[in-house]
Amino acid sequence: MKAALYPGTFDPVTNGHIDIAVRASRIFPKVIAVVAENPAKEPLFSADERVELAKESFKEVPQIEVIKYSGLLVNCLREYNASVLIRGLRALSDFEYEFQMAFTNRNLLASCETVFLMPSAKYTYLSSTMVKQIAQLKGDITAFVPDCVRLKIEEKYRKI
Ligand code: COA
Repeated sequence: MKAALYPGTFDPVTNGHIDIAVRASRIFPKVIAVVAENPAKEPLFSADERVELAKESFKEVPQIEVIKYSGLLVNCLREYNASVLIRGLRALSDFEYEFQMAFTNRNLLASCETVFLMPSAKYTYLSSTMVKQIAQLKGDITAFVPDCVRLKIEEKYRKI
């Protein structure tokens, strides 16, 4: 079985992303977390910072690699001779957006399959935006992100 790609903006990685990566690593022999660009988002962290944080955050996940990719995901699949994308599905509200992305990717590359995994229930309402908002207002984000991410967000907001 080939590698599966786990793409996201990861701005920044949360415990929910780690939960999905661990689940994916139990199914696929190799998982490649792809720090990608979502043109609709203006990330707080640069792509290189997101990659560094993802490497640190995912370091305990077996057989995972972290890469940066700025083109179309289907081209990344081609480059890695892969066909599976992993996405986390938290609530019903994620479905329409994910449905659209999965079909668009399949239209661009017929062999592309998107596999949806559900995180642990405690991460169902977690998002990177929520974490950033809490941190910006000086709230405690310890339960939502790994320590390396918490320290970087706090540092970032001290400077802004
Ligand atoms: N736990 C907690 N939060 C989670 C989560 C989980 N398990 N799974 C998703 N999320 C959150 C993220 O934190 C993020 O929150 P935010 O919107 O507050 O930042 C949100 O759900 C979804 O973000 P993410 O998983 O990072 O994906 P994205 O929607 O930002 O990424 C790309 C989309 C990068 C995959 C997409 O834009 C893409 O494919 N880009 C490449 C270009 C391309 O090929 N475009 C055509 C694709 S159709």
